[in-house]
Amino acid sequence: MPGFPIDVHLGEHGLLDSIADDVRRGLSASQKFLLPKFFYDEAGSNLFEQITDLPEYYPTRTELGILNDISADLMKRVAPHDLVELGSGSSTKTRGLLDIGYRMVLARYIPFDVSRTIVENACEDLQRRYPNLALHGVIGDFERHLGLIPRAEGRRLVLFIGSTIGNLEPPERLSLLTGIRKLLSPGDFLLLGMDMVKDSAVLEAAYNDAAGVTAAFNLNMLNVINNALQADFNVEEFRHRAHYNHELDRIEMHLYARSDQSVHITDLDMTVKVDKGESIWTESSHKFTQETATSMIQEAGMSLDTWYTDPLHYYGLALITTS
Ligand code: SAH
Ligand code: TRP
Repeated sequence: MPGFPIDVHLGEHGLLDSIADDVRRGLSASQKFLLPKFFYDEAGSNLFEQITDLPEYYPTRTELGILNDISADLMKRVAPHDLVELGSGSSTKTRGLLDIGYRMVLARYIPFDVSRTIVENACEDLQRRYPNLALHGVIGDFERHLGLIPRAEGRRLVLFIGSTIGNLEPPERLSLLTGIRKLLSPGDFLLLGMDMVKDSAVLEAAYNDAAGVTAAFNLNMLNVINNALQADFNVEEFRHRAHYNHELDRIEMHLYARSDQSVHITDLDMTVKVDKGESIWTESSHKFTQETATSMIQEAGMSLDTWYTDPLHYYGLALITTS
């Protein structure tokens, strides 16, 4: 038995509980699409960890660099009692903040993610590092279960880093931020991490790495669908490609069919035709400027307190208040 509670708000199949409707809708659309939350089965979470170490994938190390530079000042300024992290993954980037918080008033860390194993592993590791820090894992969908996060007296800092906000489309992004705002009382803060608009060659390289890890991560979504819905996607017959959309400031990741495919999805009683060269869109990763970030924050009824960035302005971290 772990020495920390883990609340589970997703059924046995995790996010896949609603997968049937989502997959039917996505594969019936004229531009076929699947949803990024299907990436993160155990294999997908492990592949994502490998992405964060790739030489081309600058966001993780850039964000970590900024966090390390600001963490002492930030923790002094905010002095949180509770640290809640949405989409916490392995919680590796959070350690710098925990190191400092642990020596101050930080009493509890609440990692929230869809992936149960990754949260359990993170908590076990953190328990060894910080034996006196209370840990409380939450397994849920941040688009549905924010209201179920445990609340205590004292100041709360919500972390939403990794540019995960960029993987949502604008309407979903606004409802999520509005939901996060409801988690904040006066005096609480949100720290939001965003990847910035930059040279598209740098962006495209980050999502089309030479070692093919991002390709494996993207293609793994077809395995997830195969397993969850008894489908027969032939993964070998699809190819990963990410390109930058300049009009909409975002990377778009697709899976292109190498040949005409007919895919049977047993649990949906559905056969899907995918023509050679046709794509299934699996994810967008929106890029921001300080201006677009500021208006997004204001639109959700919050205000920017401090903007942190790196010397190249590759990445931005916004410290946000409710007022
Ligand atoms: N914060 C980490 C991980 C970012 S990857 C980092 O910065 O490196 C995005 C994380 O969000 C994954 O761990 C994934 O499992 C989680 N995630 C994606 N969609 C989610 C959702 N709808 N609800 C909760 N967690 C989600
Ligand atoms: N949110 C991050 C980003 O958009 C991490 C991420 C999510 C990612 N899905 C990905 C990175 C797919 C590479 C490929 O960059």
